[in-house]
Amino acid sequence: MGETDLIHLIYCSTATHEMSEVELLELLQESRKRNAELELTGMLLYGGGVFMQVLEGSPAAVTGLYQKIERDPRHHSLFLLEQEAIAGRSFADWSMGFHALKTEEGKRFADAFSLRAPGHGLEGKAIRPGIALELLRQFAQTQR
Ligand SMILES: Cc1cc2nc3c(=O)[nH]c(=O)nc-3n(C[C@H](O)[C@H](O)[C@H](O)COP(=O)(O)O)c2cc1C
Repeated sequence: MGETDLIHLIYCSTATHEMSEVELLELLQESRKRNAELELTGMLLYGGGVFMQVLEGSPAAVTGLYQKIERDPRHHSLFLLEQEAIAGRSFADWSMGFHALKTEEGKRFADAFSLRAPGHGLEGKAIRPGIALELLRQFAQTQR
């Protein structure tokens, strides 16, 4: 039973401040509830003060939510990596999968994707959408 009219959207952003475990849990709980209602699935990665998220679902649901997320004061400097039609979901089991990177890993991740230093991480292979998606997929696998 294939779904038609699916897109995914991948972005990264910088957290306004280093997120505590409690803050991350709150964010996840509200996200999972809303995403289930909107038939949205995806994965959120957090490390070293940087978020990366993939959202998948109908174009209206994905872009509608992204407009809200863009205005969320918990992060800033959103950088849209990819928004395009997809043939099927990669994160069908997750209303929102989540992985927090450990300190060292998180630093490397933030280094590769951070938007804090203008220009840093925005060019070169670290920021290629395919690599971002691959990274998100790998972390979804480790949660199963
Ligand atoms: C990094 C990040 C990821 C988020 N992901 C989601 C998400 O997947 N689903 C969701 O409903 N809200 C998500 N939010 C929260 C939204 O920005 C927003 O607070 C939420 O949708 C409630 O909006 P409302 O109170 O205006 O309805 C995220 C926020 C941040 C900072």
